[in-house]
Amino acid sequence: MVSNVALSWRLVAVVVITCIVVLFWFSYLNNCPPIQQPQFSEKLIKPMNDTAIPDIVTKEKPILLLWFWPEDFRFDLNDCQTYFNIDSCFLTDDRSLYSNADAVLIYHKSISWDLSNLPPSPRPAFQKWIWFNLESPTNTARKPGIENLFNHTLSYRQDADIFTRLHLTVRKTPDESFQIPKKEKLVCWIVSNNNPGSGVGTRNAYYNELKNHIYIQMYGKAYGTFLDHKDYYSTIASCKFYLSFENSIHKDYITEKFNGPLAVGTVPVVLGPPRKNYENFVPGDAFIHVDDFPNAKSLAEHLIRLDLDDEAYRRYFNWRRHFSAQPHLLQQQEFDLPICTACEYIATHKDYKEIHDLYDWYNN
Ligand SMILES: *[C@@H]1O[C@H](CO)[C@@H](O)[C@H](O)[C@H]1NC(C)=O
Repeated sequence: MVSNVALSWRLVAVVVITCIVVLFWFSYLNNCPPIQQPQFSEKLIKPMNDTAIPDIVTKEKPILLLWFWPEDFRFDLNDCQTYFNIDSCFLTDDRSLYSNADAVLIYHKSISWDLSNLPPSPRPAFQKWIWFNLESPTNTARKPGIENLFNHTLSYRQDADIFTRLHLTVRKTPDESFQIPKKEKLVCWIVSNNNPGSGVGTRNAYYNELKNHIYIQMYGKAYGTFLDHKDYYSTIASCKFYLSFENSIHKDYITEKFNGPLAVGTVPVVLGPPRKNYENFVPGDAFIHVDDFPNAKSLAEHLIRLDLDDEAYRRYFNWRRHFSAQPHLLQQQEFDLPICTACEYIATHKDYKEIHDLYDWYNN
């Protein structure tokens, strides 16, 4: 027979052991990485209204605080609604809302080297900091101390959390109405920044060789023909070919230099990441890649042949039957689309995340 005292000691032991097991289990659960939802379709800009937002989102909109205005370029905070039909967050630049902000958007270039102009720490537990950068790795200063500070990345890179790019839109029915704009020039190039520090060596070397074989109409400060913003797209449209030469060569770094001519009806001649990378975004017959030719001379010969062969030239616009492209709206520059995309993202992504070794990711 077991005495009553021994029995209650056993009971106590069982309870204690159970508690320990439960405690271990909980601490294990807490240390587990959170389950991540696949995030494919959300990365694309799509019109979204309140009813399309998943149930997990409360009725109140999350607050997205724009900590810096990128390049000091301000736009109307209602533009997300006006231009992209995005209305899923409360976008503000009012720093007094910091402690209530669900996410803070921090533009990399504006961060000071001593990090003193970052938002105050500790941040509220629910708050996410978003690293916002549209420059290529070559032109991204490696400011120390921010490698493990952020929760999300916002960039042109396809593997960023928030990926931002103007997309071609698929037409529901083929459209034959496209007319090639009237052409007055053969090859054009607008160069705004030719600072050799920014990695422009490759493109300049190619240009220097190309211009020996074909006439290139140059525009931009560096070439003494300043082009007003309002003439930007009409100038590009008046050229048969436009040199969409990126300032530095990196995966996915395909900018408005490419998108602009594509949208206005000019064939882009691209220098940048490999052809395959461009074909992730647009049909392969919509552009000419410098790598399609062994050298600048044979590229020039190809362009001259196309100048004489309207039918072959017209084939570069076949894609227009099935897709449409829109240029960046100039008054908005390049910043509002990413900012609006971030707004939509924070409303639909509530998962916990930390970014580690930011530069290792960005430079690879
Ligand atoms: C955001 O990242 C920081 C730095 O890694 C981390 O301390 C914080 O807990 C994260 N917060 C959220 C809400 O993801």
